[in-house]
Amino acid sequence: MEDNNLPKSYRVAILGATGAVGTELLKLLECRNFPVSALKLLASPRSSGRTLSFNGETIPVEAVSDGCFQGIDIVLASAGGSTSRAWLPQAVEAGAVSIDNSSAFRLDPSVPLVVPEVNPEAAFGHRGIIANPNCTTILLAVAIWPLHQVQPVRRVVVSTYQSASGAGARAMEELKVQARAILEGKTPTPEVLPYPLAFNLFPHNSPIVDGGYCEEEMKMVNETRKIFDAPELRLTATCVRVPVLRAHSEAVNLEFDRPFEIDRAREILSGAPGVKLVENWQSNYFPMPIEATDRDEVLVGRIRQDISHPCGLELWLSGDQIRKGAALNAIEIAELLVSGDRLSNPASMSSTALKS
Ligand code: A2P
Repeated sequence: MEDNNLPKSYRVAILGATGAVGTELLKLLECRNFPVSALKLLASPRSSGRTLSFNGETIPVEAVSDGCFQGIDIVLASAGGSTSRAWLPQAVEAGAVSIDNSSAFRLDPSVPLVVPEVNPEAAFGHRGIIANPNCTTILLAVAIWPLHQVQPVRRVVVSTYQSASGAGARAMEELKVQARAILEGKTPTPEVLPYPLAFNLFPHNSPIVDGGYCEEEMKMVNETRKIFDAPELRLTATCVRVPVLRAHSEAVNLEFDRPFEIDRAREILSGAPGVKLVENWQSNYFPMPIEATDRDEVLVGRIRQDISHPCGLELWLSGDQIRKGAALNAIEIAELLVSGDRLSNPASMSSTALKS
């Protein structure tokens, strides 16, 4: 007989378990005591035979395959868009709810795109898949939503300083190897990223799409509008890859209809969920990626009046791309669903789950 006093626990699968975000998902499930009754680790056939450890147990990594989602309640996916497109429909069919880190379903109107600090209620409208937004978008949304709530933001101009981690574990390794090689006087050939990143930087390496913007920049535009439910929001982004291992930074210019009092902005952000205000003007100390690394909060600071516009406000942020920018946000969505057992079985709705 079921003991109703026992907290319910869930059968979880991580798709992309061997990657940079996958390994962080594993770590967070463990350290946040997510109620896991069984864990399945999935990756490509390249990783078959590998093992990973969870709560002191050694778990084999399996190649994703037909039928592997049977009996799974929650899939945390971070294995790229084509893998999600290929496999998540099967997960939906099997009755699991997938939280997907890839861009595959983010703009599908039937798929919620969720940042728990901003639009938690959207998660409950899922039909089997919930999308986790792009990393730079999550960090921006967490930082500007509290201000937007008080005075609507009319225009956002953002420049990003994105670490190697955004391109995965292999890109992080490439940056380390490259830096070592350059210091030894060698000229390494980049293999994961298109250009040398050590001692260099370059505009984001995602494909150029409309009007000279790259995909990463357009993700920030379209995803922020969807998360904020603000289709008219004007946003322009310049995304740049910088030789930082992990944690992205962003220079953000916000324009409002009327001046936003700086002390008020500071007060709002110092109490905002998911935000930590980091400002010491005397010592010129503000958010830095090395201090954002391994932290849950988005570090925000350098809040100042834009001297070029009376209704403009400038701020600077750093946030752990792998954590809040990906794995933590996904786990927080899962926590939202399991709190109060809002993890409905979507299988009966699977025919309408994936319209695009
Ligand atoms: P694998 O390690 O077997 O290649 P990252 O973003 O750090 O590069 O990680 C990507 C993750 O996605 C890895 O776990 C990787 O597994 C997994 N992955 C990549 N391609 C596939 C695929 N076709 N099927 C399943 N998993 C994949």
